[in-house]
Amino acid sequence: MTALRAEKLSRTFTSSAGEVHACVDIDVEVHPGELVVVRGASGAGKTTLLNLLGVLDRPTSGRVWIGDTEATALDEDALARLRRENLGFVFQSFGLIPVLSAAENVELPLRIEKTPAAERDERVAEALRLVGLADHAAQRPGELSGGQQQRVGIARAIVARPRVLIADEPTGQLDSRTAGTVMDLIGELVHTQGIAAVVSTHDPLLVQRADRVIELHDGRVTSDAAVSTAAGAETDAADALPPVAAQPEAAQPEADPDAPRTRAEARAQRDAH
Ligand SMILES: Nc1ncnc2c1ncn2[C@@H]1O[C@H](COP(=O)(O)OP(=O)(O)OP(=O)(O)O)[C@@H](O)[C@H]1O
Ligand SMILES: [Mg+2]
Repeated sequence: MTALRAEKLSRTFTSSAGEVHACVDIDVEVHPGELVVVRGASGAGKTTLLNLLGVLDRPTSGRVWIGDTEATALDEDALARLRRENLGFVFQSFGLIPVLSAAENVELPLRIEKTPAAERDERVAEALRLVGLADHAAQRPGELSGGQQQRVGIARAIVARPRVLIADEPTGQLDSRTAGTVMDLIGELVHTQGIAAVVSTHDPLLVQRADRVIELHDGRVTSDAAVSTAAGAETDAADALPPVAAQPEAAQPEADPDAPRTRAEARAQRDAH
């Protein structure tokens, strides 16, 4: 079973400088419990590809499936619901709300899903425990280190038990040692929770944590190879994940003091909050 599949994805931007082929005919398949790293130089198309895989952006051509559902065939409302129920996003800039505690930030996706309070508390505590921040639940982002803030971002991304985790340079703002521990954490969560993850980085040191590495160059895949030393892709945990249930549409989010930097990020935050 694939958790995430894309077929012949292309994205062409038209700007004053002419046409930019940011992604060209890209095929991707990610299984539950598999960590795929997308690597490439600045401008290679990593963010464009991740935005297409998270269906935050529509491809010029090509198709994306999340589980058995063709995401690229859905209208915006159905797509927002699909993203909310199946995808978790981690951002380079963390994307936390400064006035909320770590626990409240992690809780937001569950509030949107109208998860009962007792279950919310339980799942938030579990997510914070998984990222090693059980003792920091009450602290606000400004009172946490960069690595801790990103771990809160990861806890928020997994608290609703997504099938797929998309992380665009999640370690881009961290020093190399902290980046290593955050990447280790992502790898561990992916393997133990059976999440399918696509993570971009240009840090060669982080690639060794991957099960598979996709190399991008000028919008094209130049290599897509398994990392032989990594753990097996399929895990029992994947089978234990609860089925994805349809949920009523969530209310509009309140004003967000942590302004998103890109349209895609804005859309993901709108879905998540
Ligand atoms: N909205 C846009 N309009 C026009 N061109 C764009 C747009 N977004 C991206 N591009 C172009 O597409 C190409 C790929 O950009 P992308 O942001 O995907 O690269 P990247 O690999 O994520 O780079 P970085 O490592 O710097 O984040 C670049 O040439 C970029 O200028
Ligand atoms: Mg990028």
